[in-house]
Amino acid sequence: MESSLNKYLKAHSSVPSEMLSWLEKQTHLRTNYGRMLSGSVQGELLKLLVEISGAQRILEIGSFTGYSSTCMALGLKEDGSIDALELNDELEDLMREAWEKAGVEDKINLHIGDASKTLESFADRLHYYDFVFIDANKREYSRYYDLVFPLVKVGGIIVADDVLWDGKVLEENPSKDAQTQGLLHFNDMVAEDRRVEKVMIPLRDGLTIIVKKSD
Ligand SMILES: C[S@@+](CC[C@H](N)C(=O)[O-])C[C@H]1O[C@@H](n2cnc3c(N)ncnc32)[C@H](O)[C@@H]1O
Repeated sequence: MESSLNKYLKAHSSVPSEMLSWLEKQTHLRTNYGRMLSGSVQGELLKLLVEISGAQRILEIGSFTGYSSTCMALGLKEDGSIDALELNDELEDLMREAWEKAGVEDKINLHIGDASKTLESFADRLHYYDFVFIDANKREYSRYYDLVFPLVKVGGIIVADDVLWDGKVLEENPSKDAQTQGLLHFNDMVAEDRRVEKVMIPLRDGLTIIVKKSD
C-alpha cells in the first residue's frame, strides 16, 4: 500500500511521462520485485540532480528494469552518456525496450555482470565520472564506494540509495543480516570520510547525496 506521504509527494512533484508510468507497470507485471524501482519522485530528483549539476558522464550500479537510468538520461545533455551496471541478464529486454521508448537508448551502455568486477575493469577511468548512482547489492556498498571513488571527478556527485533500509539501520540492536550490516558500515564510512560533503535524506528508503571535495 502506498503511504499517504508518498501520494502527497507525488501529487506535488512533476508528473512522470507516460513512458515512465508504462515502465513502472511493466516492471510490476514482468518481475517479482517491482518495489525495487526508484519511482516517480526519486526518479525526478535524480533527473534534476543530473540537470542541475550538468553531469555528462554517469555511472549507475544496479539498473534493474531501467527506471532510474531512464530518468537520469532524460536529464542529460545531448552528448552525455551513462554506463549502466546490472547483474541479471534476464532484465535486459525490458531495460532496452524502456530506453528505446524513451528515446535514450543511444546514451546508455549496458554492462551485464557483477558490478564489483565491472568496476575493477574500469580502474583506468580516473576522474572520468561526474555522477554515480549506487543501487545494487547492499552488502557491497562500501566496496562499490572504494572502487568508484577514484573514478569520480573532484566536484562530482555520488548518490547512494536505500541507506535507511526500511529503518533497520536505526534500530538499537540492528539485525546481523549481511545487507543491514553492509549498509551500517557504508553509512559510517561515508559519515567519517573527510574527502566528501554529504547529506542523508529520508526520501523513500533513504538517499545519501555525496559530493567529492578531494581525492
Ligand atoms: C534496487 S534494484 C535497482 C533499481 C534501479 N536503480 C531503479 O531505480 O529502478 C538493484 C539491482 O541491482 C542488481 N544487482 C544486485 N547485485 C548486483 C551485482 N553484484 N552487480 C550488479 N548488479 C547487481 C539487481 O539485479 C537489481 O536489478
